[in-house]
Amino acid sequence: MKAHELVARFAAAVEHADPMNAARAVLESLCDDVAAIEGALDYIPGTGGNANQVFYRSPELTLLKVRFPNGRRTPPHDHGTWASILLLSGGEKNTLYRTENGALRKAGESTLTPGAVLTMRADTAHVAECLGDTPAIGLHVYGGDIFTLPRRMWHPQTLEAHALDWGVYENFARMASAAADAPAP
Ligand SMILES: [Fe+2]
Repeated sequence: MKAHELVARFAAAVEHADPMNAARAVLESLCDDVAAIEGALDYIPGTGGNANQVFYRSPELTLLKVRFPNGRRTPPHDHGTWASILLLSGGEKNTLYRTENGALRKAGESTLTPGAVLTMRADTAHVAECLGDTPAIGLHVYGGDIFTLPRRMWHPQTLEAHALDWGVYENFARMASAAADAPAP
């Protein structure tokens, strides 16, 4: 397994009539190979900003390796498109929200262990957090260029909606990580 083979599989999936479910099927086909995928993506740090996470980016598809360290929790955010995650190692809790006119409504939780896949539609926002003492490492697949699509983030305390701004996002992430739990509107 090499990174370019992953890119080829997902690039083919997003040409499908139903790209979200085609990409999810590719992730599910990889769920017994998480150690091999983690090895193939070892050259990507996965933390320390977007440039250290992305290994493919086009108008149709973004592929990231994301490494959430112990104690890290994101603010609520969306992706501007569908998103699907295959957890490679560690444990990751996702709190899921439906977005309606900029407001969040909690829709559920999903705790991922290695080999688990979580798929979110474009109208879904989430909070992701590392569970346990080891980093949560995942392969993240998005149905567009998430660095140019319009996206939103929510203040972790007031839940006010904002356009996603990476300069502010880290501040929100620090506040979110210091909280006892994800917000539950
Ligand atoms: Fe996310």
